[in-house]
Amino acid sequence: MIQDGMKVATSGFTPSGYPKAVPMALVERVRRTGESLKIDIFTGASTGDELDELLAVHGLIARRFPYQTSNALRKGINAGEVMYADMHLSHAPQFVDYGFWGEIDLAVIEAAAITEEGHLVPTTSVGISPTFVKHARKVIVEINLSQPLEMEGIHDIFIPENPPMRRPIQILRVFDRIGRPYIEIAPEKIAGIVITDIPDGVKDFAPVKETHRRIARNLIDFFEKEVSQGRMGKSLGPLQSGVGSVANAVLSGLLDSDFENLVMYTEVIQDAVLDLIDSGKVTFASGCSLTPSPKGVKRLYRDFSRYKEKILLRPQEISNHPEVIRRLGVISMNTAIEVDIFGNVNSTHQMGSHIMNGIGGSGDFTRNSALSIFTTESIAKSGNISCVVPMVSHCDHTEHDVDIIVTEQGLADLRGLAPVERARRIIENCAHPDYRQKLWDYLDKGLKEGGGHTPIHLEQALSWHQRFIREGHM
Ligand code: COA
Repeated sequence: MIQDGMKVATSGFTPSGYPKAVPMALVERVRRTGESLKIDIFTGASTGDELDELLAVHGLIARRFPYQTSNALRKGINAGEVMYADMHLSHAPQFVDYGFWGEIDLAVIEAAAITEEGHLVPTTSVGISPTFVKHARKVIVEINLSQPLEMEGIHDIFIPENPPMRRPIQILRVFDRIGRPYIEIAPEKIAGIVITDIPDGVKDFAPVKETHRRIARNLIDFFEKEVSQGRMGKSLGPLQSGVGSVANAVLSGLLDSDFENLVMYTEVIQDAVLDLIDSGKVTFASGCSLTPSPKGVKRLYRDFSRYKEKILLRPQEISNHPEVIRRLGVISMNTAIEVDIFGNVNSTHQMGSHIMNGIGGSGDFTRNSALSIFTTESIAKSGNISCVVPMVSHCDHTEHDVDIIVTEQGLADLRGLAPVERARRIIENCAHPDYRQKLWDYLDKGLKEGGGHTPIHLEQALSWHQRFIREGHM
């Protein structure tokens, strides 16, 4: 069913809910037959090792949209061997719907069950599966026996109509349900059913570093001030949190805070959210995938029915929908690779050219949130890189969308500030002391020789990156 040149779409969003047995069998077949095969792979977001990493290691991927986090795939993309489009995740389903990715030959969808009516019950993520199933010519269902049958009921599947007749998305509170608990599929589309019990390839978080704790503390101090000044209530706003160790540390920091009745409108639900639910701090979490650590998975499955009352999984165009994010007044918290002194953020590229992962949902949330926050450590690579730079080497989130920048050094609230004022605040509060004076010197030079509303010094703006490439330090 899978031939050279095909467009194959799969379930999966993070290393959760992606097919495992089919890609492994495909690699086995190619190894056995020695045939030359390259296919396009479309998913909700990143996936686990049995799909992205394995296919990339064997050179089977020609094109890959819209997000990835695999080492081998990243290598292939940066070597120009894999064509990769890094996209806002909320846009991806519409691209499928309008046919911008071409016709989908096959969808491979992991499911916990097929209902008596013939519908699919997804597993730990929803991603773009409903739209892939709608458009693919054929569908292979991977029934994963490692997933509890109680999965049924946690999903809320809704596909919006296409413009111009799209109706409002009727989510007024994070727990509102607007769809069905299953993915509808025409039975004649099902080309095969594969039974497997390979668990999601979720990973342990990197140990929380002291700098992560300080970032979390700085952010929580800021929230406390906002509450004391009456700009937020004790339940803050619906929280969105990016992925990874810093994000997990920030959420964990909320455990010891005075905030209460917190809710989440986010993409990825990690261990810290389970802790917050257990402690009663978080009353509800809406997301697109469940991605705890291996330990977190055990805990989740031991008590799945209880967590199910407090968690809901939606397709990514709904979990990341601009209309809903803006209406609910979400507070978004994402991680940057580097930020510049004017408040522009690079989330995706090292030294301007080499992709790390992709923008993911960070743009969907940042642009539309009531408060958009970026965290980053102030330095990287043992201090050879300053993560606060004169000009970002690639821009994912512009100064117009970024409200708050937090490093372990401090927090810069950029709201209501002109570019020069932002630069002063970011240098003073967020830059590492080893680089602070150099940033002041750059700003001075920009003001004297460049001038204007945003005093960039064009000749020197990217000189720090050039120096790193040339000499190994900024
Ligand atoms: N310049 C160049 N490289 C840098 C850097 C900088 N300013 N800052 C960090 N790096 C390097 C690190 O050294 C590390 O390199 P390595 O892979 O060789 O070890 C790499 O970039 C990743 O940094 P790390 O600190 O390990 O990243 P992280 O796990 O905290 O993730 C992002 C940070 C930005 C890569 C990650 O959050 C991401 O992909 N974000 C975009 C998508 C997103 O926000 N998703 C959630 C939205 S809902």
